[in-house]
Amino acid sequence: MVGPDSRQPGATDPRARAAAWIPEAAEFRTADIRDGAAVRDALDDIDVVFHQAAYGGYMPEMAKYVHVNSFGTAQLLEIIRDENLPVRKVIVASSQAVYQEGAGTCPTHGLVFPAARPLAQLQRGDYAVHCPRCDAVTTSVPTPEQAPLGGETVYALTKVDQERLTLSWGRQTGIPTVALRYSCTYGPRQSIFNPYTGVIAIFATRLLNGLPPILYEDGAQTRDLCFVEDVARANLLAATTDVLDGQPVNVGSGRATTVREIGQLVGAALGTPIEPLARGEFRPGEMRHLTSDISLARTAGYEPRVELAEGIGQYVRWIATQGDVRDYFAAAEAALRAKRIVHRIATPGEPREAAPVLAKAARQGPGGA
Ligand SMILES: NC(=O)c1ccc[n+]([C@@H]2O[C@H](COP(=O)([O-])OP(=O)(O)OC[C@H]3O[C@@H](n4cnc5c(N)ncnc54)[C@H](O)[C@@H]3O)[C@@H](O)[C@H]2O)c1
Repeated sequence: MVGPDSRQPGATDPRARAAAWIPEAAEFRTADIRDGAAVRDALDDIDVVFHQAAYGGYMPEMAKYVHVNSFGTAQLLEIIRDENLPVRKVIVASSQAVYQEGAGTCPTHGLVFPAARPLAQLQRGDYAVHCPRCDAVTTSVPTPEQAPLGGETVYALTKVDQERLTLSWGRQTGIPTVALRYSCTYGPRQSIFNPYTGVIAIFATRLLNGLPPILYEDGAQTRDLCFVEDVARANLLAATTDVLDGQPVNVGSGRATTVREIGQLVGAALGTPIEPLARGEFRPGEMRHLTSDISLARTAGYEPRVELAEGIGQYVRWIATQGDVRDYFAAAEAALRAKRIVHRIATPGEPREAAPVLAKAARQGPGGA
């Protein structure tokens, strides 16, 4: 097992690399996925590639996402093909972010796949997801893989690139591929330094500093949270079965939890039950509801095993061993507001959001999911 990783600041704690839970046979290489020679070296004697490296989260950059995620994946695939390497399968980490919005049911039109909510709608404080045909408010239902792609963030666009590049390359080369669309993944050793991604990690670091978790919108948006061990099991399954070959496959818990509930659960588990705070802010392009329909993965034998309360308990027990935990979120959110990644709803008499003053916010390390 070889794992090239650039060990981005803000990514999973590199101190964990020497930890006891890493198998002896695992070999780590510090290398950038964009470094073709290093990637070529790392591919020696590899039969299955689990491509996890990515630039993630709600970072302000655009070009870097494309370079790391899209170019990095294209080059990896090109090397395997051009060097005729004996790779027998490539599994790429995609994301539920590829969907434009979670599926919904309309009282009149049944199952619908709404687009991302328009900025003007969110600025009015209308967070509901409306039917694309009649504008009625929809009810969220699990999203199947057939839902249209169209994530509106740069991260989402590059996740679409990664999975399409991989799956089409597989069809052309005949090498089996699978694109696993993870839902929100969490668990012990998830970075506590990255304020841009990982809702449970961000909420935990806020709460440990005596601060309320910050909710975007009204906190009633729902997420499908999947424990990292379930995601790892899905990867091993994809490597060992051919049932999923050539397909994008949702990997999640199949259950919806509101973001407010997530904050409350983390607070209760930490023994710091500070009520989450909604401040009338939102992030354009963010989905309102997304629960993964995991029927396809189930046909291959996948079954999520770790319940949310148990998973949060494991995360909290781990974070308690991490010493002082800083809140990186406060500085990061200033940067996100300045770059218009976080917006505020317009209050009556305030026609448009005022142009933000570019805060000299501390730039945090990149990386994340
Ligand atoms: N965590 C989630 O909720 C989630 C959800 C959907 C998909 N994913 C995907 O799962 C994968 C793993 O994410 P994660 O949550 O473990 O995040 P993470 O940030 O901990 O892992 C990403 C890894 O990629 C590495 N990386 C970043 N840029 C690199 C580069 N240029 N070259 C080499 N390595 C580089 C980072 O150092 C990090 O170790 C990613 O592809 C991510 O997009 C994660």
